[in-house]
Amino acid sequence: MKEKIQRIDSNPELKQLLLKYCRLKPGDIWVDPIKGHKVGCLDVRNFESMNKLMDGKKTKLNCSDPPYNIEVGGENTVNLSETDLETYMNFSKQWVENAIPFLDDNSSFYIWLGADQKKDYQPLPDFMIMMRNYKELQSRSFITLRNQRGYGTQKNWMSVRQECLYYTKGDPFFKVIYTDIPKILKGYYKTVDGQVVDNQTRSKSEFIRSSNVWVDCQQVFYRMHENVPGCYTQKPLKSIEKIVEASSVEGDLIVDLFAHSGTTLIAGEKLNRIVYTNDFDPIFAEITIRRLERYRMLGEEGFQERNPFPEIEIDFVSEKL
Ligand SMILES: C[S@@+](CC[C@H](N)C(=O)[O-])C[C@H]1O[C@@H](n2cnc3c(N)ncnc32)[C@H](O)[C@@H]1O
Repeated sequence: MKEKIQRIDSNPELKQLLLKYCRLKPGDIWVDPIKGHKVGCLDVRNFESMNKLMDGKKTKLNCSDPPYNIEVGGENTVNLSETDLETYMNFSKQWVENAIPFLDDNSSFYIWLGADQKKDYQPLPDFMIMMRNYKELQSRSFITLRNQRGYGTQKNWMSVRQECLYYTKGDPFFKVIYTDIPKILKGYYKTVDGQVVDNQTRSKSEFIRSSNVWVDCQQVFYRMHENVPGCYTQKPLKSIEKIVEASSVEGDLIVDLFAHSGTTLIAGEKLNRIVYTNDFDPIFAEITIRRLERYRMLGEEGFQERNPFPEIEIDFVSEKL
């Protein structure tokens, strides 16, 4: 199957070609004239840049998906690089410390991460231990998102997981989210007001409550409308919508410091939140803006197999299956 553009971050010639179609250059911020979302083209390591993006505002929800210090798809790129653990942890410390000052007194902070099973599961445990330094944050949950496609050899368990850490500051809003998986099993009998009742009678919903293991989010692939060709680490929109719905209310300002394909911006637009997002690469900042514009114009959540840069006539074979 073909997508109209190949993975962008690992192709320097393609990047060079696309740059001239990007409206932001490093240091710029795009402000949405309709709802006030922002897309920055800023380096999260720079506090002054974050200050400029936030412009005195605080967020109720920071939901960020940094590079995981894992070689993605066998390519090491400026956007998604694998480096030594010390360098990665310095990077993590920098961006987390640049994000914390902009958390509201009552707010949630979600961080997507990976664990390299070939390299002592780094960086997940190192990151968790680092987070203990920030006493204003409380660890709340360790979510695992199950991918549908796995990887690994015949001599190991197939790997299908992505991790997300959930922290809170103060006492933020939290709404229980239900999956669309119906409850089928009866059980967990309890006596309530003298009557023995099962879980279905007591339940607030006929569907299963979302736990911290997510099996209900379809991994993005080329045939899905939300697919953004050229983006290699796109999160399922549903996984971000779950976070946005659970940890913010309409009108709240939410932040995602690593936009890539702009998933959090679309989730926020759909759910009536204001989103400040950011990517230090002008190409992914541009894709993020274009994805929003396309959603508003056509109601499409992504580009499916279409090229987000129709200005260029390229018909590479997709590396995403
Ligand atoms: C894992 S991807 C985010 C994927 C995103 N959640 C999505 O659904 O498309 C990480 C992104 O962070 C960006 N990035 C890496 N280092 C950065 C930095 N120092 N400052 C800002 N953005 C950075 C990369 O360009 C990449 O697009």
